[in-house]
Amino acid sequence: MKLFAFFVVFPFIFSLATACDRCVHKSKAAAFSSSSSLSAGACGYGSLALNFNGGFVAAANSEIFRDGVGCGSCFQIRCRNRELCNRAGVKVVVTELNKSNSSDFGLGVRAFAAMARPGKADGLKRLVITDVEHKRIPCEYQNKNLSIRVEESSRRPSLLTVKLIYQGGQTDIVAVDVARVGSPAWQFMTRSYGPVWTTSRAPGGPLQFRFVVTAGYDGKWVWAEQAVLPAEWRSGEVYDAGVQISDIAQEGCSPCDTQEWR
Ligand SMILES: *[C@@H]1O[C@H](CO)[C@@H](O)[C@H](O)[C@H]1NC(C)=O
Ligand SMILES: *[C@@H]1O[C@H](CO)[C@@H](O)[C@H](O)[C@H]1NC(C)=O
Ligand SMILES: *[C@@H]1O[C@H](CO)[C@@H](O)[C@H](O)[C@H]1NC(C)=O
Repeated sequence: MKLFAFFVVFPFIFSLATACDRCVHKSKAAAFSSSSSLSAGACGYGSLALNFNGGFVAAANSEIFRDGVGCGSCFQIRCRNRELCNRAGVKVVVTELNKSNSSDFGLGVRAFAAMARPGKADGLKRLVITDVEHKRIPCEYQNKNLSIRVEESSRRPSLLTVKLIYQGGQTDIVAVDVARVGSPAWQFMTRSYGPVWTTSRAPGGPLQFRFVVTAGYDGKWVWAEQAVLPAEWRSGEVYDAGVQISDIAQEGCSPCDTQEWR
């Protein structure tokens, strides 16, 4: 009986002790000159990415990219050279995978230089690659809801491929379902890659969507009751999902950072 109690209680205490909103990781960031190489490939945002977060976007290593689940996640990164670097660092959105192992984040020159103290940007840029620390932060899009871009490969009525953009909060989207508005017949979509989800069995519209996001230690459903896509949805268009996500998913780590970097 005692043994049983030990096994039940221990994981609970353990998870409380390590529940963390902001784990700090030591890593490396590299600067490179062309910001178009941050938006092309692995997350498929294309030129949309250049409007995210004032263009402060990053290519992440495969551990942060997580097979595309990390697309659209936000990080605060600051460099560790006290002489050259400010304490707030820079906030970036992940829009690309960098397969190189020699840095964890690739930053455009402007974002890289934003980590510098006043007057030290040139000195920092000359390093090209530097030791940093990073933590995941909630994404904040001013005046934007989570949005759905209908991809060009879609064919009405049943072949529907969507890209999720402007995902707020500090969560992962782990499932997406679609239904005709008011119908209980939800059809699941599968992740094609990164933020792109697809089904060949979309119902006739108008359509609503629901999402499972990670929050706390679990997942939760997020959705709007209203139509998101009209019956005559069109590829290339971006539609407001009618909701935004502000949840925080917990990580397990120690020590846990509770300070704001400013
Ligand atoms: C990255 O690291 C992995 C494992 O350590 C290795 O197999 C791979 O070849 C490396 N890739 C590059 C581009 O160096
Ligand atoms: C990828 O990482 C390498 C090595 O750190 C860096 O030189 C390169 O600029 C990075 N590229 C991108 C697109 O982030
Ligand atoms: C987000 O969606 C809500 C609910 O539909 C709507 O009231 C609000 O205006 C939307 N916000 C933006 C910024 O579009």
